Amino acid sequence: MKITKCLFPAAGYGTRFLPVTKAMPKEMLPILTKPLIQYGVEEAVEAGMKTMAIITGRGKRAIEDHFDISYELETQIKGTSKEHLLSEIRALITQCTFTYTRQVEMKGLGDAILKGQALIGREPFGVVLADDLCINPDGDGVLKQMIALNEKYRCSVVAIMEVPEDQTYKYGVIEGKEMEDGVYRVTGMVEKPEPDEAPTNLAIIGRYILTPDIFDAIRQTKPGKNGEIQITDALLHLAEKGMVLAYKFKGTRFDCGSVEGYVEATNHLYNLEEEK
Ligand code: G1P
Repeated sequence: MKITKCLFPAAGYGTRFLPVTKAMPKEMLPILTKPLIQYGVEEAVEAGMKTMAIITGRGKRAIEDHFDISYELETQIKGTSKEHLLSEIRALITQCTFTYTRQVEMKGLGDAILKGQALIGREPFGVVLADDLCINPDGDGVLKQMIALNEKYRCSVVAIMEVPEDQTYKYGVIEGKEMEDGVYRVTGMVEKPEPDEAPTNLAIIGRYILTPDIFDAIRQTKPGKNGEIQITDALLHLAEKGMVLAYKFKGTRFDCGSVEGYVEATNHLYNLEEEK
């Protein structure tokens, strides 16, 4: 079955960016002139997805307005030298359907994904955490790479990268058997382990391809790290049946959930633009 839907959990508060995130969703923070979530949507479109299912929360309306036509603005700039500045976002609005539902209580990433079941139905789907910005200027985007693996093996896929051993406490960490270059059959996974408890330094980043049995797995998952329903714990249920792969993606990932990573992404993309 072709994967056409992509879920964007976007209900989080973005406290690390206060005060800017007080009245503005963190997903709308710009990298150059585009908000973070638009990079994620573009990556999903490149991978062949057409329906963007966004899990929002209170104070997130700017996301809906962004993926909509602003008639007043369009009228203002029509025929002027600035009209081209809207071409990319217009193309997305034309090609995609955007659907929304709210996560009413912040009960964790697993819970946010479960809220998306109504928008996804019973089919495999992508997940993008927009504050992980991934680029691969010379090849396929990360989601597209992951879809190729899902088509080959018909199971869930998580994107991973090696991180310094003292950084495992920030990530879901996997353990697995390498079955082809950079592809692991996951045998264990743990959410945000301290370095001495981490099975490896292979950290999950914010890109997933999930099979629809994940929804039942989430329902069976008890609150874990920080008292939240963790997607990592739910995926472990599927991994126990041998149905989760971890994939060392090609490209660069920036942690735009931290000020440092955000600045790094901004500088990197600015330099790429300058070189054009
Ligand atoms: C979430 C996941 C974690 C994953 C990370 C990637 O954590 O729970 O397993 O490694 O995203 O960015 P968060 O960064 O939302 O705390």
